[in-house]
Formats: sequence, C-alpha cells, structure tokens
Amino acid sequence: MLTKSPTLKAGFAALAMTAAFVPAAAQAEGTVNIYSYRQPFLIEPLLDAFTEKTGIETEVLFLDQGLEDRIAAEGENSPADVILTVDIGRLVNVEEKGVTQSVDNETINANIPAEFRDPEGNWFGLTTRGRVVYASKERVDQDTITYEELADPKWKGKICMRSGQHMYNIALFASMIANLGEEKAEEWMKGLKANLNGKPNGNDRAQAQAIYAGECDLGIGNTYYVGKMMTNDKEPEQKEWAKAIKVLFPNTEDRGTHVNISGMAMAQHAPNQENAIALMEYLSSAEAQAIYAEQNFEYPVLPSAETAELVKSFGDIKPDSLPLAEIAAHRKAASEMVDRVGLDEGPES
Ligand SMILES: [Fe+2]
Repeated sequence: MLTKSPTLKAGFAALAMTAAFVPAAAQAEGTVNIYSYRQPFLIEPLLDAFTEKTGIETEVLFLDQGLEDRIAAEGENSPADVILTVDIGRLVNVEEKGVTQSVDNETINANIPAEFRDPEGNWFGLTTRGRVVYASKERVDQDTITYEELADPKWKGKICMRSGQHMYNIALFASMIANLGEEKAEEWMKGLKANLNGKPNGNDRAQAQAIYAGECDLGIGNTYYVGKMMTNDKEPEQKEWAKAIKVLFPNTEDRGTHVNISGMAMAQHAPNQENAIALMEYLSSAEAQAIYAEQNFEYPVLPSAETAELVKSFGDIKPDSLPLAEIAAHRKAASEMVDRVGLDEGPES
C-alpha cells in the first residue's frame, strides 16, 4: 500500500533525529510533513516553490489507499501535518474518520471561495474539475447539454459511463439530489439507465475510447482526463480518443456544471502546526493554485487565478455554486439510489 516514497524513510528518520543531528540553521525553519493521495509529479513543483519562499522543508508520504486509517492508527504520535487528496468523498471521509482539525485562518478563507471549503475548516478545496459530457465530434451536432437531458429517450443506447458507485459519479448524483430533490433525481437516474449502451464499466478515459470506437455518442467524464489523453505520449492512441470527442459543459445556461475538488486538510495532531498553516496559506494562494491546477489540467478554485491554455481550450466552465459540503451530505442517498435503480446493471434489467 505504500508507494513511490523514496524520501519517506530518510525523511521521517531525519525527523526523529532532528534534535540531535540537524544543523541549527536548518532547524530554525523546520519541516512540514505531508500525507498525500496525490502523485509526486503533481505536488513537487509546488513544494519546491514553498521551500524556496519560506525555508521550510517538506517531507511527503505518498499513499494510494488507507491514508486516514494510517493517521488514525498513529494516533497522537502521527507525524502528519497536512493531508492532500482529491474528491469531496475522500475529504469528508478524512474528516469523518476524525483525523483532521479545524482551521480558521483569514488568508486561507479569503483565498478559497466558501462553496469549496468545509464551513468548520476541516477541509479546503484547491483545484476543481468539471464532471462533463464527452460527445462524439462526428455524431453529435449540439454544443450544449444539460445533465437532465441525459435522461431524454433520444439518447437511447447512446450513453457510456463508468460505475455509478464510483466516487466521481456519486458526487454528481448527490448534486442532482441537492438540485432536483430525491424524487426527481431518481426519475432522472432511471432515464439515464434506460439510455445506457450497456453495463457501466471502465474508467473515465474508457468512455472517450468507446466514443472513438463508435460504441456510444456520449460519455460522462472529468475535464482533466481530456488534457491527460491529449498529451499522452506513452499511450499515443489516447490522443486519438481525445480527438474523437468534444467537451460539453452541462447546464451552463442555468445552475452551472457540477465540479469536484482536490483539497487539503490539517491533520488532527499536526506536530508542526505553524509550518502546516504556512504551507496551507501558500497552497491557497492564487499563484500556487495556478501551478497546482496546471499539473493535472484542473481549474484553480479562485476564478481570478490563471487557468492553463490547454484547459481553457476545452471551453468555458461555469461551476455550479452549490456548496460541496451540501453535495457531501447527499452522497449516501446517491449511493443507495444507484443500487435501488440498478444503474450498474445497465439498461436491460
Ligand atoms: Fe481521476
């Protein structure tokens, strides 16, 4: 479960020996320890810039699962100061596991719009990603769409998606519940199920691949995968998938497109609180948001922060202003609805 952490052992060993072995000058600024679900290449440019600015060193533990369990197991002795992860579901899980602490900081609160942070300060969004419709350039004429329209019988057999239980779709469905009410959202989900071309499967990129292969006309996916496919030199066939689709931002004419976040939280027993705040303040800055967003083809949470040109090329996004905390509150209902409707069984059942 521990992955890609070349600096971990050395880093935390150094931490344990700080008092005895680290030169006084280096000690003055100290360290901040980060537990991250996000991959090294996404956060290293930011952390380098932070150290350059502040003199505070960063140590990172990368995990691809069990981050919150690990911090809980470490208890009061946990070296974790700051947690970095994606998805409102994960951020809320971290909070509910009780391994975060509330942060009330003027700079951070001013930098991060209220809809993208926990009202109690247990988590903060840094970048957003739209959950959009991938549409066949060849077979779909229209350039606008709504989520509601995905239930229109005109799309029968033409829509592809990954499992309805995946956290990206759960957040989307939770936003449908928050916006439409549970009854209408369920009717909508039944319509969506009836329009699927088969059982939901694969990841977001697989939906673009299915459109490329002519299996469906519409897919549901996150914006950043379009950038990842467009620039994928390791698997250049993905560039073809990206070329076959256009991005439709749902509901731009009314409430806006559902967005999810990548974010940060302060760990419950952060041993380096001051440095953690310094890092969180830096990460919330427009400058850092822009660097962070660009690494993964995402959007900064601050509209005034710079969005990368390639990301702009997908089209204009108007994010739904519904607070993410409210969406989080409907996640359980969304998951139960997916089971009740039998979404993952496809249109036949
Ligand atoms: Fe993803």
